[in-house]
Amino acid sequence: MRENYKLMTGLIVPRPIAWVTTLTLEGKVNLAPFSAFTFCSHKPPMLAISVGHRNGELKDTGHNLLRNGEFVVNIADRSLLEALHSSSAHYPPDESEAEALGLALVASSVVKTPRIASAPASMECRLHTSLALGEEGNRLVIGEVLRFHIADHLIRDGKIETRELDPIARLGGPKYATLGEIVTLPAATIIAPAA
Ligand SMILES: Cc1cc2nc3c(=O)[nH]c(=O)nc-3n(C[C@H](O)[C@H](O)[C@H](O)COP(=O)(O)O)c2cc1C
Repeated sequence: MRENYKLMTGLIVPRPIAWVTTLTLEGKVNLAPFSAFTFCSHKPPMLAISVGHRNGELKDTGHNLLRNGEFVVNIADRSLLEALHSSSAHYPPDESEAEALGLALVASSVVKTPRIASAPASMECRLHTSLALGEEGNRLVIGEVLRFHIADHLIRDGKIETRELDPIARLGGPKYATLGEIVTLPAATIIAPAA
């Protein structure tokens, strides 16, 4: 199991990071990063994260989002890397990582769960589907994005300016990456086999 984990997280790289806020039963804001994260539909917009177990129990994020039927995916830039990394420490379920790290929160528009004020983008999500996978009970969670919040400077002609976003990605082990070279290619066309 450990070897498989190392192989998967070493080979599936670089991974984007969902910095997820959820609400605890007492109304505190739980915050944790999840790099098993991808886009999976655009009409309606949907994304997926996979939440694992700790000591046989689903992680707090999983408990909270299944109970509340909602969560927020915040996108961090390079300036937030250390805070994002620190938020992965195992805080007790009733302690807010956002509070402990001094991260300001802003009310969301559609869901009750707040978003991170300093994050350049956030997506308010309603739980669409969750699927228990494998013997360790990883939970694949699909959320429908109900509202996007994107800092003005990140958007040009309706598209995200990737350099401006300055995203961070997870590699295998405690390693992160930032953007390197960006290569732009024209749409692919069929190449006839050489005669
Ligand atoms: C960059 C990064 C990515 C992570 N990705 C995942 C992930 O995809 N799934 C997961 O279960 N844990 C992941 N973790 C570990 C969780 O963030 C960590 O277990 C956290 O304490 C869970 O918090 P919670 O119990 O408040 O939900 C990741 C940690 C880091 C630093």
